[in-house]
Amino acid sequence: MIEKTYCVGEITVEALRGVNLTIEKGDFTAITGVSGSGKTTLLNIIGCLDVPTSGCYKLNGTDVSHYNDDALSAIRNELIGFVFQHFYLLPYVTAIENVLLPVLYTETPVDNPRELALDALTRVGLSDRADFKPGQLSGGQQQRVAIARALINSPSLIICDEPTGQLDSKTASEVMQTLVDLNAAGKTILMVTHDAAVAKIAKKAFSIRDGLISNTDSM
Ligand SMILES: Nc1ncnc2c1ncn2[C@@H]1O[C@H](COP(=O)(O)OP(=O)(O)OP(=O)(O)O)[C@@H](O)[C@H]1O
Ligand SMILES: [Mg+2]
Repeated sequence: MIEKTYCVGEITVEALRGVNLTIEKGDFTAITGVSGSGKTTLLNIIGCLDVPTSGCYKLNGTDVSHYNDDALSAIRNELIGFVFQHFYLLPYVTAIENVLLPVLYTETPVDNPRELALDALTRVGLSDRADFKPGQLSGGQQQRVAIARALINSPSLIICDEPTGQLDSKTASEVMQTLVDLNAAGKTILMVTHDAAVAKIAKKAFSIRDGLISNTDSM
């Protein structure tokens, strides 16, 4: 059970008011909820970008709720890949160079990083676009480059915040198919979406309302 409170000046926001949730290895889980309900706050805690104000968050059985920034960042590098609504690709470098970026931040040296990046691009069906810059790719392709970047450190958990939010429905379904394939290959996926049709593709879905989980569906 975790809670998260933000204080800004005199205002206190109870963003998460008692969330109890277990995600199993191999799950593909969708979180839905209106704007401001606490979805990103929850993803940030699960993704070790932030810690709860109170309560316990266990990742692979270890309570990481009190870890400092360095310890959290080490866990992120090792276990977690992120995909965001706005892709966050660097516009002036190629797809493969974008995919390589997280390798620059790992402490352990990596053999053949370009080969690793090309493998990641192959997994998302873009090996033939390695030398294209983001502006030369479609929106769905850009998001798949971002997914390849999330894969480069071989994370076991992929966290996606509105991965199809910028995409039309056809391109959104390409991106969702990529996530379905990765899940079938063993990756655990946790995704926030506003789109009920996208949420249905996940194996499990729950919604958050005012910082509380309001319903759970297993599909
Ligand atoms: N860093 C922060 N500092 C202060 N308040 C915050 C911060 N981040 C989020 N909040 C507040 O916490 C609440 C939940 O925000 P959160 O970003 O988790 O919502 P969300 O469900 O992801 O919304 P959206 O669908 O618009 O992305 C909001 O009321 C927001 O104002
Ligand atoms: Mg959000």
